[in-house]
This record gives sequence, C-alpha cells and structure tokens, in this order.
Amino acid sequence: MAREFNDKVVVITGAASGLGYALCKRFAQAGAIVAGLDKDAKGLEILADELSAMGASAHTFVCDVTDEAVVNDTISQVIDKMGDIYVLINNAGVSHVSLFQKIRVSVLKKVIDISLFGTIYCTKAAIDSIIKTQGTVVGIASVAGYAPLAGRTGYAAAKHGMAGFLNTLRTEVDRSGVKVLLVFATYIKTNLAKNNLSADGTPMNKERPTSGNVLMPDDAADSIFKAVAQEERQLLLGETAQASWDLYYSDPAAYEEIMLSLNQFVFEE
Ligand SMILES: NC(=O)c1ccc[n+]([C@@H]2O[C@H](COP(=O)([O-])OP(=O)(O)OC[C@H]3O[C@@H](n4cnc5c(N)ncnc54)[C@H](O)[C@@H]3O)[C@@H](O)[C@H]2O)c1
Repeated sequence: MAREFNDKVVVITGAASGLGYALCKRFAQAGAIVAGLDKDAKGLEILADELSAMGASAHTFVCDVTDEAVVNDTISQVIDKMGDIYVLINNAGVSHVSLFQKIRVSVLKKVIDISLFGTIYCTKAAIDSIIKTQGTVVGIASVAGYAPLAGRTGYAAAKHGMAGFLNTLRTEVDRSGVKVLLVFATYIKTNLAKNNLSADGTPMNKERPTSGNVLMPDDAADSIFKAVAQEERQLLLGETAQASWDLYYSDPAAYEEIMLSLNQFVFEE
C-alpha cells in the first residue's frame, strides 16, 4: 500500500527555489504539514504566501544547513510546533563549474558542507523523530552521485558522499521501519546553474550547457513524491539518469568519453 501524507510532517531543505519549492507544493497538495527550510528568507516569504494561498498547513524556517547548531534548533522547533517528522527531504545544494587545478579548496568545502554535511546535520537532528513515525529520509543526489562529472569534483564528492551516507544509514534503520530514498537526478530547470560557484567562490550567474532532456521542477517533484509514497530505495530521475547509470556500470570508459565530449566547456572556464 502506498504511503499517505495527510496531516504528516514533511521537512524540505532548500525550499525557497527550484526543486525544493516544487516539492513543498506537491506534498502540500497531498495534505502534508510542510516545513520549508532555506537560508534565503525572501524566497521563503514567497513560498509561504503560495502555500497559504493553496490553503496548506505550512511553516517556513530560515536555516543555513551548514550550521549544525542552527539545524538542531530548527528541527527542534519543527517537532515542537508541528509534531514528529514523517519525511525529511535533504534537498539544499549548490554546485560549481571549475577544474580541480583552478578551484579554491574553500569552494570545494562549501559545496560539500551544504550537500553532504547539511544532509548529515539535518538527518542527525531528525532521526529519532523519524524512527518514531517510521518515516522516510530522502537525499537529492545527482548523476554526479554515482558517475564522474568533469569540472565538478566538489559536487561529485558531495553527492557520492551523500549516497554512501544514506545507503549505509538505510542498513541501520530499516529494522526500525524507516525508509531511505536516494534520488539521482538529471538536469532540472531551476536556479542551480545561476547559483553555480566559480573557482573563486562567486556565483556564476549564467546558464550552462545541458545534456539530454531537462525536467521541469513540478514534474521532478511529482516523481519524487510518488517514489516516497511507493517506499522506493532509489529513483533515477529522468531518462538521462537511467541511461547514464546503465552505461557507466557496463562500460565506464565509454561513459567518460561521452561525458567529456558534452562537458568540454569546463576546460575553457
Ligand atoms: N537542477 C538540476 O539540474 C539538478 C540536477 C541534479 C540534482 N540537483 C539537486 O537538486 C537540489 C535542489 O537544487 P535546485 O536545482 O532546485 O537549485 P536551486 O539553486 O534552484 O535551489 C537550491 C536551494 O538551496 C538553498 N540553499 C543553498 N545553500 C543552502 C544552505 N547552506 N542552507 C539552506 N539552504 C541552502 C538555496 O537558497 C536554494 O533555495 C540540489 O541538491 C541539487 O544538487 C539539481
């Protein structure tokens, strides 16, 4: 039987833009009580207005997921105000486009802090509550979470790390009835490219070349919603994610060749 979300508390990080924003709307449509977390206070105001116009029960929290104390405090507030957490979606993230030789280590660290340590802090703060509800922990990874992506060493490290962390967590919490879903997504039309960091850490503020089909955030959110409802372990989101998985695990050298031909631009950044 599919999981239902009516009156269930769903926490989504990176809620003020792109995929996180769309996920908040999708779970709200299903009657969930949505907690949207983001460091962007303005974006959260817009989200709160839209959720309220939908008649949703929702709260937003300004929260930088790289600050462990702030995360602990925010998750405590969510539980106190809204109740135990049924779904935690670790979605906040940022990427970069710059070769390893050129990028500052501080930029790599920032990317890893958000996607990997942000996921660890939020999951650590919420896990006891999620065990009580026999809920679900979700990680929004990427094709760069199982295969290489030139020009994104930090992003790939963060998303491979997220995959290793959550796949292992699953083996520990499965016996408590907790589900863990990893989403390996292909390109989605969001602000991620605009927010990409350059070698010195400044946002790049430009679109990037994409390969394969590009998903719309609402469609991506709907697929993730269904995967949580169906208690799936892994979602290869988008045709390119599935095709990349099949090729990388059957012929990694062929995969690298195609990936490099599509990402030559990173050698010119
Ligand atoms: N867009 C894509 O093509 C794509 C592909 C694969 C995976 N993803 C993943 O999807 C997730 C969502 O990204 P998106 O595409 O919607 O991008 P986006 O830039 O539109 O949204 C990211 C959100 O994360 C928030 N955020 C960043 N740092 C934060 C921090 N320290 N604390 C709290 N919030 C923070 C931003 O403020 C923003 O609202 C990311 O984890 C990204 O890696 C995106």
